[in-house]
Amino acid sequence: DLMKEIIGIHKAEKQLSEHLGIAETIIVPGDSDKMPLIKDEIGKACARRLAALLDEKNTITVTGGTTMGSVAKALMDINVAGKEMLFVPARGGVGGKVSDQANSICAAMAENTGGTHRVLYVPDEVSDELRSILLKEPSINNTLSLIRSADIVLHGIGEAMKMAERRNTDEESMDKIMKGQAVGEAFGYYFDLDGNIVHKVSTIGLQLKDLPRFKHVIAAAGGKSKAKAIRSYMKNAPKSTVLVTDEGAAAEILKEE
Ligand code: BG6
Repeated sequence: DLMKEIIGIHKAEKQLSEHLGIAETIIVPGDSDKMPLIKDEIGKACARRLAALLDEKNTITVTGGTTMGSVAKALMDINVAGKEMLFVPARGGVGGKVSDQANSICAAMAENTGGTHRVLYVPDEVSDELRSILLKEPSINNTLSLIRSADIVLHGIGEAMKMAERRNTDEESMDKIMKGQAVGEAFGYYFDLDGNIVHKVSTIGLQLKDLPRFKHVIAAAGGKSKAKAIRSYMKNAPKSTVLVTDEGAAAEILKEE
């Protein structure tokens, strides 16, 4: 019955947090691989968790992706009256659909909460040479300081090969990702099952090493197909991380225990 199911999910949430070595896990019923609507449930759970963290003034830095897109949609139904919300993209543009880019997600989040947003109009992948030039640009530098001073990080986790394809990754990097047997990706870093970084996109956005400095980090990713990706990234995640996922991913990760 329902009560048993709820107790079951709570137990699984605790188990999964311990298994992944993170502060908290929220599991929504279902598997977003099988039912795309479940991704919206992850979005809603993530939006509610975010709402519980809000102060009077909030700077929130956000990555792209379809899961973050669901969070943006769900923010429409969250009451943020009297709260200042500033959304800052954690990354530049990735390949693929414009609506999935961090810039667009931040714009949607601002619109749905009556807040404001910044843009980071730079390609996600930059050469070292271009990076040092871009960093001298006041508007870019300003956004980067806002990213670093954010109170909350909201981010997605992807399957390595899917993300590499979405980014139109060059042959040399693709080789590293495949030979390194990468299974997961977050913030432009590719991880193997043990959590080793096998490839990193050179970006001017948020870096993995910056993460422990943030007060709150919420990761949202679900679907059985992302089980390995979630596991691989969590070996690198700050301990304070809150994971919002679904039963499909949770069951698959716990099965490996
Ligand atoms: C991207 C993030 O845009 O979204 C990635 O920058 C992440 O780090 C990806 O892996 C996840 O995408 P989705 O569509 O599966 O939520």
